[in-house]
Amino acid sequence: MATLLVNGIKRDVQAPGDTPLLYVLRNDLALTGPQFGCGLAQCGACSVLLNGKEVRSCITPLAAIGDKEVTTLEGLPARWAKQRGLTHEQAAHALHPVQEAWIAEQTPQCGFCQNGMMIKATELLEQTPSPTVDEIKTAFTSGVSPHLCRCGTYTAIIQAVQRASTRMTKRSEIL
Ligand code: FES
Ligand code: FES
Repeated sequence: MATLLVNGIKRDVQAPGDTPLLYVLRNDLALTGPQFGCGLAQCGACSVLLNGKEVRSCITPLAAIGDKEVTTLEGLPARWAKQRGLTHEQAAHALHPVQEAWIAEQTPQCGFCQNGMMIKATELLEQTPSPTVDEIKTAFTSGVSPHLCRCGTYTAIIQAVQRASTRMTKRSEIL
């Protein structure tokens, strides 16, 4: 048995240590934001944050997690609420600004890749609050492999990241 810290909550899971984190999240913990795309760290659909850094959960074994915190797409609102010090009531009605921006820009087409896109955007904006277009492009095309979208939503993703950046850097707003 292993105990994982996922989206701020300790979860016990019964799975061998070499089980991919993606399988544990989807099959054992019913967290279906991360998607199975390639299974080979080549597309980014399965991405999650591990202590704030994007990892491909399809190739990350359960045994490699230890006491690091896993954040999935489902955990982004609570992550934002904690970072902003929102009350429990405020947090209950809040989405992460990245998620809000994705909705406002109508970014997804089929949607399959968008979990990884929002996870990558969150990692980027936590590290670089006001990225340039080049920095956004670099973030999505560097690392283990580029984040792939076969519907071609790349332009909308850049616009959504810029919108989220504006929202996240407005420190006077609570929500
Ligand atoms: S499913 Fe993990 S990178 Fe494609
Ligand atoms: S929205 Fe369809 S693969 Fe990206």
